[in-house]
Amino acid sequence: MGKSYPTVSEEYLKAIDKAKRKLRGLIAEKNCAPLMLRLAWHSSGTYDQSTKTGGPFGTMRFKTELSHGANNGLDIAIRLLQPIKEQFPTISYADFYQLAGVVAVEVTGGPDVPFHPGREDKEEVPVEGRLPNATKGNDHLRDVFIKQMGLTDTDIVALSGGHTLGRGHKERSGFEGAWTSNPLIFDNSYFTELLTGEKEGLLQLPTDKALLADPVFRPLVEKYAADEDAFFADYAEAHMKLCELGFAEA
Ligand code: HEM
Repeated sequence: MGKSYPTVSEEYLKAIDKAKRKLRGLIAEKNCAPLMLRLAWHSSGTYDQSTKTGGPFGTMRFKTELSHGANNGLDIAIRLLQPIKEQFPTISYADFYQLAGVVAVEVTGGPDVPFHPGREDKEEVPVEGRLPNATKGNDHLRDVFIKQMGLTDTDIVALSGGHTLGRGHKERSGFEGAWTSNPLIFDNSYFTELLTGEKEGLLQLPTDKALLADPVFRPLVEKYAADEDAFFADYAEAHMKLCELGFAEA
């Protein structure tokens, strides 16, 4: 299924380029790459292919979506972004939040995720409960990522590597701690730590550990732990698919 991206104006492309610079500055100043990646992911991971609802269409700007339990703490991301967003009134919230996610990966040393602009803002907030539940297992991950979003097994493992950035906050999710010892660097250490097993002070969610017990997921974890370039290539592809769910469908 090919994509047919909308054509955007030269001015719009210039605004995106400038906004990208401002986002690099904000993320460096506030050390908020992890939160920006989580915002972008929670904005797009609500996509439901059967009803073509949810997805990366800027609806996280509404309090109703921010108040979903899974989104605890993302109001901070929206607040940090707002002064920059106001400088670029022509850019959609939809594009802006996804741009922040792509920049977060780039500036922490991760791969360049191709960014296609032109998402339009929607008004309808997705129903609560579409994002994955960290206490569940692989059937649940496949229900959410494959059945609901339309992604693949490889995408599940590659995207789980997003936990190379950031940490759990007890007061937001009930989970505390970082997955790796360098949570502001995007590398393959999520996978090496996962294979090493639980360690004092580091976090592994039930959904992270579940990857090790699956005959399809585990070889991918091993591959990404051994070969960072392979992880980066699959991650970039999976992140691009994620942030374009429901966008530019041919
Ligand atoms: C596979 C299913 C997933 C589950 C169950 C899950 C669950 C969680 C939980 C419980 C937290 C802690 C939130 C907090 O307390 O602040 C978290 C944080 C985070 N997640 Fe996920 N996640 C999943 C997939 C992803 C994906 C696909 C990405 C991006 C590609 C991602 C990126 C992040 C980041 C960057 C953070 C750290 C946020 C921060 O430091 O503020 N996660 N995730």
